[in-house]
Amino acid sequence: MSSPSEVLAQARRRRTFAVISHPDAGKSTLTEALALHARVIGQAGATHGKAGRRGTVSDWMTMERERGISISSAALQFEYRDTVINLLDTPGHADFSEDTYRVLSAVDCAVMLVDAAKGLETQTMKLFEVCRHRGIPIITVINKWDRPGNEALELMDEVLERTGLLPTPLTWPVGDSGDFRGVLDRRTGQYIKFTRTEGGATIAGEERFDADAASDMEGQAWSTAVEESGLLELEDQQHDQDAFLAGRTTPVMFGSAVLNFGVHQLLDTLVDLAPYAEARPDSDGELRPVDAPFSGFVFKVQAGMDTAHRDRLAFVRVCSGLFTRGMVVTHAATGKPFATKYAQHVFGRDREVIDEAYPGDVVGLVNASALRVGDSLYVDKPVSFPPIPTFAPEHFMVIRAKDSSKYKQFRRGISQLDHEGVVQVLRSDLRGDQAPVLGAVGPMQFEVAEDRMNNEFNAPVKLERLDFSLARRTTPDWIPQLGRERSVEVLSRSDGELLALFSDRWRLAGVEREHPGIVLEPLVVS
Ligand code: G4P
Repeated sequence: MSSPSEVLAQARRRRTFAVISHPDAGKSTLTEALALHARVIGQAGATHGKAGRRGTVSDWMTMERERGISISSAALQFEYRDTVINLLDTPGHADFSEDTYRVLSAVDCAVMLVDAAKGLETQTMKLFEVCRHRGIPIITVINKWDRPGNEALELMDEVLERTGLLPTPLTWPVGDSGDFRGVLDRRTGQYIKFTRTEGGATIAGEERFDADAASDMEGQAWSTAVEESGLLELEDQQHDQDAFLAGRTTPVMFGSAVLNFGVHQLLDTLVDLAPYAEARPDSDGELRPVDAPFSGFVFKVQAGMDTAHRDRLAFVRVCSGLFTRGMVVTHAATGKPFATKYAQHVFGRDREVIDEAYPGDVVGLVNASALRVGDSLYVDKPVSFPPIPTFAPEHFMVIRAKDSSKYKQFRRGISQLDHEGVVQVLRSDLRGDQAPVLGAVGPMQFEVAEDRMNNEFNAPVKLERLDFSLARRTTPDWIPQLGRERSVEVLSRSDGELLALFSDRWRLAGVEREHPGIVLEPLVVS
């Protein structure tokens, strides 16, 4: 049994974060590099998840490997400078933004990874908005500085203009993009010189020099860095911990994930500046102190992670107290006990039995068929954490079993996909249980659903596209009016929401004009 003060001390050692970026910005490479620095894996390089190569430690499904995208989310835990770092993996593809959103509900900080040549891309901006909404502090990493790209000051302007966050660089590059020599450590004024190692496969060489030595060594490149850093100072672009935690500024660092340059500095920044696991508000807005008895919530449910273990895992973020394997917790949604005999720490294909976890950690509960995304678990004092809102679906398809004798499997599969949040399942009396509608944020979610119905649930399906692209929340009293409108359909979602579907915003506007006062609210992420 751990004392409350031990729990507090452990929570303070935790840094739980995710990397948000646009596909190809280098998230998988950075993940590998971080893990390498923490020496949990021997050698990085040629392991980041692209087609035709060995998968990353963070990807697992055949589809993912074939397409080279990361669909699922898992957690990587390692120790660095006596701090426990929990890196939650997020899918890079825009079609899985809903998954990413759920992961972001479980982190305390985010690293926004930006390709130096491309700047802030669409997916990065979308995820940034989610972080801002949730008040998650953001550390910015400008990646791929080893390649020709934008100018550093231009990138800072872009961050300020597009995110509204004042960039406060901690390091500043020495050498233009494409000629990455090292960084100026703006806090100490020292030069950190990077040396390449073969293929970036091992930790890059790093040496510190004072300004005079740096000037002798790098000449103009050093003077430019000092000059530009001075300009930032004039604009007050200096790190301020309170402003960072309040989401007004973002510390920035420059690096090259593929060469392992700057990775060490990122880890130090996480340890020194990123927030530790703190008390989380429950559904009533009351804080559950971190040293209260165990509590947590499910932010991700996943099945079939590995063909060798066809099971179902619920990923729980620990919010308070000590979690010990085997403890019986209460499932807030049903009030039923849940035995945690099979608790695991999961990252990619690797699983390890977990015996203890503290606030900030992620526990994978095996065979958790009763648990749904957003569910709370606790011991002793009951608590419910706020539900994780769902995205508005923009793509819709009717799904049917190809073979009516497989109807039982079909129903089981659909209910499972719904539970996991792979797709949203929408139903109506009119369509019946045999032909529900699937709603998705991105069409690739349908491919995952179809693949799993065919292969995992042994219920081959056919999917048929529906001509809707917009969903609005409505109330039961408006069903009759909406039912009489052409090309409008009302369906109910398993969280109890009633969704009215429209082909486009003109159709929606037409219906709104026709029925003044009608309830058609946007489904916002909050
Ligand atoms: P993602 O997970 O964000 O989608 O990106 P990923 O790490 O897979 O990286 C995308 C591409 O960018 C990869 O190249 C990777 O090697 C490259 N990359 C990542 N970080 C850096 C960096 O700091 N500098 C440079 N120059 N490249 C970087 P690829 O062409 O898809 O694969 P490969 O043939 O290079 O292995």
